[in-house]
Amino acid sequence: MSESIEKIDTFVLFGVLGDLSIRKLIPAWYYLERDGKLSDSLKILGVGRKLVSDDELRDKVKESLKTHVSEEYIDNGIVSRLIERFFYCACDLSKDEDYSNLNEKIQDWSMPAAFYLAISPSLFESVCDGLNSAKLISPSSRIVVEKPVGYNLESSQEINEKLTKHFDESQIYRIDHYLGKETVQNLITLRFANSLFSSQWNSKGIEYVEITAAESVGIEDRWGYFDGMGQLRDMVQSHLLQLLCLIAMEPPNRLDDQSIRSEKVKVLEALKSLDKDNISSNFVSAQYTDGEIDGVKKPGYIDEDGANQDSKTETFVAIKTEIQNWRWLGVPFYLRTGKRMASKTTQIVIHFKSDGHYIFNESQESLKGNTLIISLHPTEGISLQVFTKPHGVEKHSTVRSDPMSLDFIKTQKLLNIPSGYQSLLMDILSGNQSLFLCREEVELAWKWCDNALEASNQSNQDLYFYSAGTDGPIQSKELISSNGHSWYEE
Ligand code: BG6
Repeated sequence: MSESIEKIDTFVLFGVLGDLSIRKLIPAWYYLERDGKLSDSLKILGVGRKLVSDDELRDKVKESLKTHVSEEYIDNGIVSRLIERFFYCACDLSKDEDYSNLNEKIQDWSMPAAFYLAISPSLFESVCDGLNSAKLISPSSRIVVEKPVGYNLESSQEINEKLTKHFDESQIYRIDHYLGKETVQNLITLRFANSLFSSQWNSKGIEYVEITAAESVGIEDRWGYFDGMGQLRDMVQSHLLQLLCLIAMEPPNRLDDQSIRSEKVKVLEALKSLDKDNISSNFVSAQYTDGEIDGVKKPGYIDEDGANQDSKTETFVAIKTEIQNWRWLGVPFYLRTGKRMASKTTQIVIHFKSDGHYIFNESQESLKGNTLIISLHPTEGISLQVFTKPHGVEKHSTVRSDPMSLDFIKTQKLLNIPSGYQSLLMDILSGNQSLFLCREEVELAWKWCDNALEASNQSNQDLYFYSAGTDGPIQSKELISSNGHSWYEE
């Protein structure tokens, strides 16, 4: 970050009473307050449609903390300090004149401000125009938007155009909350600070890579949003492709935002496109039917509250792709993500190649090749499967596989794993864009997903089904086994 970047002390949160703020952002502010990361002068202005007083907002903040921060971490002194920072302004975001209320409310506050849009993208343009006419934008202001930026390339370009009408690219912070997760940030350190890995990180050392984001939750109360998106747009376009970029990118020249983003862009440019000639062997989409998770019965997707019974929206995808460059020639990258699966598991598994001639017990040949598991959920940590001899004189040719593990909570003596939002909020305040997406990344990712969906439609691909509480449809296993590979199961 350059020395000349101004620090932000005024944070304007549009949609302060919405789900994202209540579940994620307010708890993240709490942990930052607890850890002494916030400057004394930081103030947060919540903006919403409802007529609510500052005190009523502060009560909502308390409620959010009660529900979304574990009781053992709640300290009333810290809660009181945090709520003093919150103020409220009612504003109909579609009315230009309402932005003068905002101006009035913060006229004595320190400027520039960061404007966080935790609201529907359909309002982005009105907000940018409103802020502009209320003269609240300066060259150092920042605007923050959540994923998804659009639902395809065209809509994403439209949104980006609206943002750039009043903000320069250097002022736009596009969030993918996965990039704020500690283990995701750690990928760069793991790869480029450990010569053991960096020397093997290519097609000579790696057989294949899997990225899994399985969730046991269904759609909850987001059916309206999700049904128009589907799992490919909701999860792959952002989170999974970002993980893939960090696994596959070349070492950046420096750890600054420009260097990291330009390496990620190169990966997305090299990602093999799915087209109608290759889609059938590389893409599986499916929808969950009813089933059971942890002994509790769950309805099928089309029987969820508010569902359209004819929906063909996918809740699961499995994809095989390649990165067409020197480093990754011929190495399959498998991506898999779904709702209502057996458990929540988010992990990247790197399967290393084995050495040629196998001298141990032939029946164990499938055990050759080390595996590195980078886990984001349920634990955050890394584990390398290594082979050793079991103790006992008679077992010379037998091998056993055991993990060498790092659990970040234990090794770094953390009280709890921070949510991705803590580091992202800090970066917005300090003006560091390296964990945010640039326009090119977002648009390349959309282009790739649009191609996949179009190819799948053109070739009338089947939508498969899987029972809630399972690992997805059998076709996902077939996709990977056709190359002699398999999904890593604990
Ligand atoms: C969001 C998706 O971006 O990520 C949700 O819109 C998904 O559908 C969520 O449930 C998963 O995030 P996490 O951090 O719980 O893995």
